[in-house]
Amino acid sequence: MEVILKSDPESLCRLAADMITDLMQRKPDAVLGLATGSTPLKLYAELIRRHREEGLDFSRVRTFNLDEYVGLGPDHPQSYASYMRNHFFSSVNVHPDSTHIPNGFTEDIPAECAAYEQAIQDAGGIDLQILGIGTDGHIGFNEPTSSLTSRTRIKTLTARTLADNARFFEQEADQPHHVITMGIGTILESRQAVLLAFGDSKADAIAQAVEGPLTASVPASALQLHPKAHVFVDEAAGSQLERQDYYRWVYDQKPR
Ligand code: GLP
Repeated sequence: MEVILKSDPESLCRLAADMITDLMQRKPDAVLGLATGSTPLKLYAELIRRHREEGLDFSRVRTFNLDEYVGLGPDHPQSYASYMRNHFFSSVNVHPDSTHIPNGFTEDIPAECAAYEQAIQDAGGIDLQILGIGTDGHIGFNEPTSSLTSRTRIKTLTARTLADNARFFEQEADQPHHVITMGIGTILESRQAVLLAFGDSKADAIAQAVEGPLTASVPASALQLHPKAHVFVDEAAGSQLERQDYYRWVYDQKPR
């Protein structure tokens, strides 16, 4: 696992954008795994800037999002489909047919989940997966005790995640308790993974994920099994890491 600590989220988002740009230059039809939440917003803004100002071309890129709320259609303002349109897809030249988000409005959830896994396989697998982390250590919506080999499926959110995300919903009754999420096994098959985390509220989850034991109780700790995982944290999110000096030492010696 590569851990990069920097003082500001902006420079970490630029680093993540550099990785995506490099990948797209090598492979114009790259398959990107995308995340929602507040964490990747600056990354999407940077990719949009590169598209507009530097001609970064998404015309052949394929995307797969991590998760979606059950019961929210793609036009619901709090659906992750709306989030992706508003914050990224409508501002770059990705083809709408090439973007994939689980359909939370389906009547047959197991069939939707199996089809999502198949679509990832048919695309040749995910080249680079962007991840955020929940304060309870979830990735995607794989809540604590998720199987480390899980595939795309329905999950029930924890009370903590519901509380963390309540700010996005006008009324408590509007907030779904169920989601469709890529599994931990699905995420581990991505060829590269970049976990972004900013702010104090993520410090405990990051320390447990990076330096704690591998455990289903901290789903992000499964990234310890990933062959190419990068963890980009600001000072606040990295503040409980014991080996900060070592991560900085490694980064300073990295050939550029
Ligand atoms: C949600 C998403 C996760 C995301 C997490 C953190 O639970 N399903 O993919 O990582 O929120 O959100 P934020 O980035 O807003 O802290």
